[in-house]
Amino acid sequence: MTLKPLAKCEVFELPRISDPRGNLTFVEGERHVPFAIQRVYYLYDVPGGAERGGHAHRDLHQLIIAMSGSFDVHLDDGYSKKSIHLNRSYQGLYVCPMIWREIDNFSSGAVCMVLASNRYDEADYYRDYQDFLREAVK
Ligand code: TYD
Repeated sequence: MTLKPLAKCEVFELPRISDPRGNLTFVEGERHVPFAIQRVYYLYDVPGGAERGGHAHRDLHQLIIAMSGSFDVHLDDGYSKKSIHLNRSYQGLYVCPMIWREIDNFSSGAVCMVLASNRYDEADYYRDYQDFLREAVK
């Protein structure tokens, strides 16, 4: 039996260098995440009640980190769903390809940083949930 995509999505603990001057965390591609990092983007100034995401990717691997504040990430591979609350800058949620994701419940001042395995490519997106399900559930 092959592992469903959702089973691969988990919270990774990132290295933490604790220091009285302030803590430090780092992420190296293909070491702390199972992909080479090609792109970084971040969401910030998110108004209360806003929802982001609402799509899936065909091939993209991502690591989602709450750099500041907190938010909830809802994942769905077409077979099952799970929700993860992120609120630590030393934790990253790995999201593999073929996962529908929604992000909500942003705290005030939250910053959501995403490390991605490829450059932006609109052709890699499923923006319609029914289109996604047709491919995800066979
Ligand atoms: P989208 O991925 O839909 O945002 P989110 O998942 O956070 O809600 O992207 C929103 C817009 O930004 C869309 O027009 C595409 C554009 N965009 C880029 O141009 N480059 C990028 O790296 C990303 C992530 C988005």
